[in-house]
Amino acid sequence: MKQEVDISVEFAGIRLANPVFTASGTCGYADELSDFMDVKCLGGFITKSITLKPRKGHTAPRIVETDSGMLNAIGLANIGLDKFIEEKLPIIREMFIPVFVNVAGETIEEYVAVAERLASEKAIAGFELNVSCPNVQQGGIYFGTDPAIVTEITSAVKKVAGEKVLMVKLPPAVTDISAIARAAVEGGANALSLINTFTAMVIDIETHRPVLANRTGGLSGPAIKPIAVYLVNKVYREVTKERGIPILGIGGIRTASDAIEFIIAGASAVAVGTASFVEPVCAIKIIEGIKQYCVRNNIGSIKEVVGSITG
Ligand SMILES: Cc1cc2nc3c(=O)[nH]c(=O)nc-3n(C[C@H](O)[C@H](O)[C@H](O)COP(=O)(O)O)c2cc1C
Repeated sequence: MKQEVDISVEFAGIRLANPVFTASGTCGYADELSDFMDVKCLGGFITKSITLKPRKGHTAPRIVETDSGMLNAIGLANIGLDKFIEEKLPIIREMFIPVFVNVAGETIEEYVAVAERLASEKAIAGFELNVSCPNVQQGGIYFGTDPAIVTEITSAVKKVAGEKVLMVKLPPAVTDISAIARAAVEGGANALSLINTFTAMVIDIETHRPVLANRTGGLSGPAIKPIAVYLVNKVYREVTKERGIPILGIGGIRTASDAIEFIIAGASAVAVGTASFVEPVCAIKIIEGIKQYCVRNNIGSIKEVVGSITG
C-alpha cells in the first residue's frame, strides 16, 4: 500500500504544496523553464531581480565555472518593471503557485517604487528583497551589510507592500548574519531567505587578469552549501525560531538530501539555484526525493523535520 505523506508547509501564512522554490536569477521571470519542468509542481517560484528601470548589467564574460560551483557577475541585468508588468505578469497569473518577485535597486526609493506598483497584484504572493546591491546614496556600500539600513529599507517597503509577504534575502559575507536578520525582522520582514552569493574572484594565470569583466562575481553552487547550512541554523537558533519567522534555505542545493539538511537546520522551505543550470528538472526531482525520504523514515509531515537538528 502506498503511504501518504504530507510535504506541504506553511510559509509566513502561505500554504506551499511542497517546500521547494527555484532561486532568484536562475530560472527567469516566469515560466522560462516550462519546456523542462511543470512549473506548477513547484512549491513556489522567485523571479529574477526586478529594478525600476531596465538594466543591461555587466559586460561579458559574466560567468565562470569553479570547483564545485560558479561565479556570476550579471549585474542585475533585467527587463525593468514596466516590461515585467506588461509581458511577465500575465504568465505569472497562469502559474497558480506562490510567486515572489525579487526586488532590487540602487536607492531605497527605487525598492519602494517597485513594491508599490506590484502590491495590489493578486498573482504575487510576496516580495523577496535583494539587499545585496550597492547603495548609491551611501557611496556604494551594500544595503545588506548594515543593520540600520536593513531595518530602514525593510520598513520602507513594508509600508507599501500591503498584504504581501515580505521576505528579506540575507548576504552571507557579514560579521554577524544574526544582527542583519534581527534588523530585517525589526523592519517588518515576515520571512528571511539565505544565502545570497559570496563575492569571489578567478584569475587567468596566462593573462594575469580576472576572468570576469567585472573582476569579481558571486560564488554559488555546492561549494557554498556547508556554509549556507551553518548560517541557516545560526539564524534559526538565534533569531527566527522564537519569533516564528520562516527561513527559505538557499545555497548549493542539488539533491533531496541537501534540501532535507537545510530543513533539519531550520529552513521551512528551500530554493534551488545553480543546480538548475546543470539539470533544469532538478527542483522537481528534489520534491519527489523529499517525499521518498518521509516515506523511508516514517515521517507523516515534513513540518516535523523543520529545525529537528539535535546536538
Ligand atoms: C546566474 C545567477 C544569477 C543570480 N541572480 C540573482 C538575482 O537576480 N537576484 C538575487 O537575489 N539572487 C540572484 N542569484 C543568487 C541565487 O538566487 C542564490 O541565492 C545563490 O546562487 C545561492 O544558491 P545556489 O548555490 O543554489 O545557486 C543569482 C545566482 C546565479 C548563479
